[in-house]
Formats: sequence, C-alpha cells, structure tokens
Amino acid sequence: MIVLMLPNSLKKSPYTGEKIKLRALELSDLSSIMEHWNTYAVRIGLGKYIPESSTQREEWIKAQTQKASKGEGYTFAIETLETKNFLGTCSLNKINNVSRTAFLSVVILNPENHGKGYGTDAVRCLLEVAFRVLNLHRVELHVYSFMKEAIHVYEKVGFKQTGVRREASYIDGEYRDDLVMDILRREYEEITKKML
Ligand SMILES: CC(C)(COP(=O)(O)OP(=O)(O)OC[C@H]1O[C@@H](n2cnc3c(N)ncnc32)[C@H](O)[C@@H]1OP(=O)(O)O)[C@@H](O)C(=O)NCCC(=O)NCCS
Repeated sequence: MIVLMLPNSLKKSPYTGEKIKLRALELSDLSSIMEHWNTYAVRIGLGKYIPESSTQREEWIKAQTQKASKGEGYTFAIETLETKNFLGTCSLNKINNVSRTAFLSVVILNPENHGKGYGTDAVRCLLEVAFRVLNLHRVELHVYSFMKEAIHVYEKVGFKQTGVRREASYIDGEYRDDLVMDILRREYEEITKKML
C-alpha cells in the first residue's frame, strides 16, 4: 500500500469542514437540486422569483462547469461528511484576477437541513478556498435585509456590512434593501489566527 506523505501544513484540506465537504458539482446532482429548488422560501433568498424547470437547472450546471474551466468562477456541491448526502451548493463567482475579488453565494436546499451548522461550515470552507487556494484579496456578497439567518451566518464567519443597495430588489410586492457585505484576506487571517 502506498501512503501519501504530505507536509503538516498541507494536511487539512480547505474543502473539508467540521460537518461538510465541498466537492465538484456534477450533472448527476440535478435530481437532488430539483427536489427543493422550487421551494419558494429557499429560492426567494437567491433572487430566483420564477419557478425553474430541470432543463433550466441542467443548463445552469453546465454553465458553472464552463465558468470553472475558464477560471471565471467556481461552484461546489456541499455534502455531509457523515453520509455524503447532497445539501446544496456554494459559489465564488465574478472572479477578478487583477483586483483579486469574487462574489460568494450559498444555499442549503432542504429547509429541514437549516439550522444544523451546515451553511456556516460551507461558508468557512469557501473562504479557505477563496484565500488559501485562489489567493483572493476580498470576497463580497449581497444579501436581502430580511434574510436574518443568512446575515447572522455571514457575520459569524467575519463578513462586515459595508453598504446598502436601497430598494434594489422588488420581492413579493415590495422594494427591499440589499446589504453589501465583504471580508478582506487580512481580516480572515486575524479571525482564524493564521497567516495564509
Ligand atoms: C442562509 C443559509 C445558507 C444558512 O444555512 P444554515 O445551514 O441554515 O446555517 P447554520 O445552521 O450554519 O446557521 C444558522 C444560524 O442562523 C441563526 N438564525 C436562525 N434564524 C435566525 C433569525 N431569524 N435571525 C438571526 N439568526 C437566525 C441560527 O441560530 C444559527 O446561528 P448560531 O449557529 O450562531 O446559533 C440557509 O438558510 C439557506 O440556504 N437559505 C436559503 C438560501 C439563501 O438565502 N442563501 C443566502 C443568499 S445571500
């Protein structure tokens, strides 16, 4: 048997958290995505107002694969460490290779899996990928001001609110504010007490 020996500093994979693992998104994840994709409460937080067909979601998966091939963005499947159950997806998109910035998004699809620490763990892993793997300088996200659970998760991992896009989104009959949140690499290093 061959035992792969890595230096100590390389042993902890950035893709593995306490409860979840990030892995490549596959076309075979489509059926798991469609189980909850059209659940209104889940989709509304992502700005997807109109129900989507599985063909549309399949095109989306293919588009993510193309973006990854060009280095423009990376979308990962989130699965539980214990059972390898598919939980949702998370992404770093609009990667700017000069300013070293990207936009983050995350979704845990089945509402029954909310509040179990998966979302927090996934965002922490994604920040490890952003700063440690992709050498980014700043990660930004936009979140509706009514998404209190998501805002709490983002603040918990170190994002700061840096702006408000006032009445930027028309949702469920009302114009709503979008919060702009971001985190810099040095702030992440300070929080995690490690130099990357
Ligand atoms: C946002 C999301 C990814 C969070 O994932 P999750 O697995 O439920 O998150 P976690 O279990 O790690 O953490 C949830 C936290 O929110 C807290 N919370 C729950 N309801 C809350 C509320 N109304 N106000 C404030 N905090 C709340 C929980 O107490 C928990 O914090 P704690 O661990 O400090 O106690 C998930 O809710 C989701 O996918 N939502 C739909 C898609 C979405 O809106 N994505 C974000 C788009 S910007």
